[in-house]
Amino acid sequence: MAFIEIERLERTIGGLQILKGVDIRLEKGGFLVLVGPSGCGKSTLLNAIAGLQPPTAGDIRIDGQSVLGLHPSKRDIAMVFQSYALYPNMTVAGNIAFPLEMAGVPAAQRAVDVAAVAKTLQIEHLLDRRPGQLSGGQRQRVAMARALVRKPRLFLFDEPLSNLDAKLRVEVRAEIRRLHQATGATIIYVTHDQIEAMTLATQIVVLKDGVVQQAGAPAEIYNAPANMFVADFMGAPAMNMLPGTVGLDGQTLQLEGAEVALPLAVTLEPGRAVTLGLRPEAVSAERAPEGVALELPVEMVEPTGSDVFLGLRLGARLITARLPATAEVGARQAVWLDLSRAVLFDSRSGARIG
Ligand SMILES: Nc1ncnc2c1ncn2[C@@H]1O[C@H](COP(=O)(O)OP(=O)(O)O)[C@@H](O)[C@H]1O
Ligand SMILES: [Mg+2]
Repeated sequence: MAFIEIERLERTIGGLQILKGVDIRLEKGGFLVLVGPSGCGKSTLLNAIAGLQPPTAGDIRIDGQSVLGLHPSKRDIAMVFQSYALYPNMTVAGNIAFPLEMAGVPAAQRAVDVAAVAKTLQIEHLLDRRPGQLSGGQRQRVAMARALVRKPRLFLFDEPLSNLDAKLRVEVRAEIRRLHQATGATIIYVTHDQIEAMTLATQIVVLKDGVVQQAGAPAEIYNAPANMFVADFMGAPAMNMLPGTVGLDGQTLQLEGAEVALPLAVTLEPGRAVTLGLRPEAVSAERAPEGVALELPVEMVEPTGSDVFLGLRLGARLITARLPATAEVGARQAVWLDLSRAVLFDSRSGARIG
């Protein structure tokens, strides 16, 4: 039995099915990141767990007990939203202490708990201020402190960083990661940012149109995506997707502008439409023993500091290659396609073949 068990969860709003039978399992102390494009049902799922929007079918169990009959206040869950409503007339300390006050915790104990969480989040110097006197990042930290102070059995975060600027996002992200490691809290965290997902999660669940596409460890999602949607959604720049046709021998693949050996032990049906997926790092200047060497026209150069991404012309499409920033880039670039790192999809169903 997993600590959190979400089973065949459905939610229909106005005749429209938003969640279509979602299954999720999470162990105690796990950090599950739910990712997916805008409108796929992430917030709907979180709200169902918190008890703010009841599901139309299915079950949600925490520690073996269904919580569906429980009022939100009785579920022992804390939620942090994208827009964090702090009480403007209360001090930061008052805001953080508020959930404890509601729970009937005596004042002396409240003071001890607030001081402890403020220390963890490094906001001790802000305790006497009011929300209006804080920056966005500071306010978000106060909102987190308010959620953390209760030590609930489950935390829900709904895109908590999306209102912060890029630098602050990275800082608060690191802080959330540290907090998880220090407290061992169980967390379900929603984001549409796949870098946030890769860096924070012990488990990633990819949702599309209310259907779970894949659940797994970050490396599993990145290296062995279940289908073309997951492959394309996770990773930036995106995975190169090269459509082709299986050759007459069943072991080669005719791509536009190249012929490659199929990166599979099995023989496929000749003529089958398949798509070869190659991450940018599998298209590089490094010699790949199980690879194909190509020399391609350079049409785009994108330096990122540590690396340079090149857009190379292959047939009708541009493929992204990743080279060290020190690489000397000319009008043409010799690259290796490392087929040992390739994944193959059925072009019609989008499912991974190998
Ligand atoms: N109260 C509501 N009434 C009607 N449609 C809703 C309501 N809440 C959400 N939806 C619809 O449900 C879908 C999923 O929404 P949401 O869970 O907010 O997506 P996400 O958080 O992944 O961006 C969207 O198409 C949205 O328009
Ligand atoms: Mg949302």
